[in-house]
Amino acid sequence: MFKDKTRFKELIAKYGHAVPRYTSYPTAPEWKQEFLQQDYELALAKSNQSGKDYSLYLHIPFCESQCYYCGCNVVISPEHGIETKYIDQLKQELDYYASKVDMKRKVAQMAWGGGTPTYLSPEQIIDLMDFIKARFGLYTKASMAELAAAGVDYNEHEYAIEIDPRVTTRDHLQALYESGFNRLSMGIQDFNRQTQETINRLQSFEQVAALVATAREIGFTSINFDLIYGLPHQTIASFQDTVMKVKQIDPERIALFNYAHIPSIFPFQQKYIDESTMPDQETKLEIFMSAVEELCDFGYDFIGIDHFAKANDGLSLAQKSRTLSRNFQGYTTHAGLDLIACGLSAISDVQGVYKQNPKKLNDYYENYLQAEKFMVSSADDKARREIIKELMANNFAVIDLNLYLDEFTALRPFIEEGLLNWSYLDLTEPHKVRLEITEMGRFFARNIASCFDAYISKEGAHRTFSKAL
Ligand SMILES: C[S@@+](CC[C@H](N)C(=O)[O-])C[C@H]1O[C@@H](n2cnc3c(N)ncnc32)[C@H](O)[C@@H]1O
Ligand code: SF4
Repeated sequence: MFKDKTRFKELIAKYGHAVPRYTSYPTAPEWKQEFLQQDYELALAKSNQSGKDYSLYLHIPFCESQCYYCGCNVVISPEHGIETKYIDQLKQELDYYASKVDMKRKVAQMAWGGGTPTYLSPEQIIDLMDFIKARFGLYTKASMAELAAAGVDYNEHEYAIEIDPRVTTRDHLQALYESGFNRLSMGIQDFNRQTQETINRLQSFEQVAALVATAREIGFTSINFDLIYGLPHQTIASFQDTVMKVKQIDPERIALFNYAHIPSIFPFQQKYIDESTMPDQETKLEIFMSAVEELCDFGYDFIGIDHFAKANDGLSLAQKSRTLSRNFQGYTTHAGLDLIACGLSAISDVQGVYKQNPKKLNDYYENYLQAEKFMVSSADDKARREIIKELMANNFAVIDLNLYLDEFTALRPFIEEGLLNWSYLDLTEPHKVRLEITEMGRFFARNIASCFDAYISKEGAHRTFSKAL
């Protein structure tokens, strides 16, 4: 993968600055504070008229203990009971959407994220899923069998949940499987004991291996592992050992996150991280390169940014056929779905209208129907979003030079560096250009895509994003 490591390091020095991840466009810093309920409900009505499948997201913010590196929006409570009121409020919000969304439409993608969704008990999970099934059109094993019998070419629905191996039992897994989840994503981060102690997250290889074995025995066929590089006490050798252990368990997908250490934003937890124990930038890059090479040697494809999938996984296949897409949950084989998101800080994306729910628990309890941030995309935003999504997901886009000549000019350094190729789409239409990101260029897809971000070029890159690598 990295035939020339020195050159890769030079490119990182040049392009490794902070850039958005483009799970949305316009990106969140551009959104407004004022919530226009009428515009939002108009978008929900338009979504209904499309009759298309959609995505449903539920945020469960609770965790039993605080991992010191964590940058997620969490509520820490070792004592259970706190979740009861939250589930009631979630149900009210779900009821609101159920009154707006045609039940004949189907949920092609569902995700529960957090926090830790398996903070809820198996009974609470089943109860919440039953509540959802009674109000929204979920795919079930029976409806899949019907489609198969009718010979319908069916892109399997993805019902995924983030689970923390430390608080997930066999009963949880059984409840999840029986209520319809087909994908699990586990927080692993690192198997090294010293690193685990420093980040306040102890979980042994044996514990994780046993949980995955149970999940597979129950019937789950798609498991993702989250890993983080850049954590305290990590060395190239220690992380190689972690990657070897991951390989032994053999998950279908892997997210290899760059540790976002921003104590100014996450002071409560990250103040416990002693920066002198973190690998320096050079070592961090070596850890990343070595992990990428090993994962690719083990048969994973690099999908983009920080995601890997086995060569026969749906994500890899979709990318090869250029049908991969990207949304708030990351990469997905389900393109162009509207997203209805419930819970603390959750972000809905309906017909190009973004609504982020309140970030504070009390505000959410007071009224879920207000917005931390809100944005109605313009036609120009939507066109740019499409180009950015294609570049990020499929390493490919077609642009019209009559509209994007300045952007094309801005791409020049990437073309000269061999990170991007271009050609005319058709000689009868010389203003249409095909852009194709090269193998090395894929590590800089965010930078390439940012040339189409009208807000960055207008205002300059003054905002806080995580570094590309
Ligand atoms: C909601 S958690 C996953 C589910 C569950 N709470 C757990 O930790 O097992 C989402 C993931 O975000 C990643 N993450 C959290 N904080 C991060 C940070 N500061 N930098 C990079 N990745 C981070 C971790 O890999 C974590 O597994
Ligand atoms: S990493 Fe997961 S378990 Fe740890 S605090 Fe963050 S959300 Fe909670």
